[in-house]
Amino acid sequence: MEIRSAEFICSNTKVDKLPLPDKPEHAFIGRSNVGKSSLINMLTGKRKLAKTSQTPGKTQLINHFLINGIWYMVDLPGYGYARTSKKNRRSWEGFITDYLERRPNLQCVMVLIDSRLEPQAIDLEFINWLGSRGVPFSLVFTKADKQSKQKTIQNIRLFEREMLKTWETVPEIFITSAEKQLGKEELLEFIEGVNQA
Ligand code: GTP
Ligand code: MG
Repeated sequence: MEIRSAEFICSNTKVDKLPLPDKPEHAFIGRSNVGKSSLINMLTGKRKLAKTSQTPGKTQLINHFLINGIWYMVDLPGYGYARTSKKNRRSWEGFITDYLERRPNLQCVMVLIDSRLEPQAIDLEFINWLGSRGVPFSLVFTKADKQSKQKTIQNIRLFEREMLKTWETVPEIFITSAEKQLGKEELLEFIEGVNQA
C-alpha cells in the first residue's frame, strides 16, 4: 500500500468522543518507549506526525490519524511506565481497555515488542488479556537496527515458545526498525489485506 496522505484528526481519552467508527482502524500499543509513535511516522513517511521522545510516557492520549482518507491509524499511550502515578496508571487502564473493548471498527491491534529483550511478563500478560477479550492482534518487534539479525530472531523464537505454552498458534509477526525503515512494506501490505477482507 502506498501512503498518499496521513493527517492528524484528534486526541481523546473518551471512547464516545472518537471519530465515527465508519472506517477500518489499526491501533499501535506496547510498553512505553518501545517505538509506537516512531513506527507510525516511519510507516507514513511523516517524521513529525506522531510525537516521539527519548523519555517514556510521551504519548498520553488516543491519537487518530486518517490514512489515504479511508482508514485510521491509532497511536496509544504505552503500558508499564513505572514512574507514572497509581492514579495515572488506573486512568490509563480505564480508557485504553475501554477503547480496546468498545471500538467496533478496530481491525487489528499491533502489539509492539522490543526486539532486544527476552520475553517480558508484561507483554505476555497484555497479549493474554487481548486474547481473553477476543481482540485480534499482531506482534511487531521493534528497534531491530539495535542488534544483529540473529539476536532478533533468537528473541522472537523465545517469545513464540513462551506464547505457545498457553496459545495454540502465534499471530502474524513483523520485524521493524523505524531508524532503518525496515518492515514498512510488509506491515502496510498486511493492513491493506485486512482492510480489504
Ligand atoms: P511512549 O509514547 O512514551 O509510550 O513511547 P513510544 O512507544 O511512542 O516510543 P517513541 O516512538 O517515542 O520512541 C522512543 C525512543 O525510541 C525514541 O528515542 C526513538 O527515537 C527511539 N526509537 C524508536 N524506534 C526506534 C528504532 O526502530 N530504532 C532505534 N534505534 N530507535 C528507535
Ligand atoms: Mg508514543
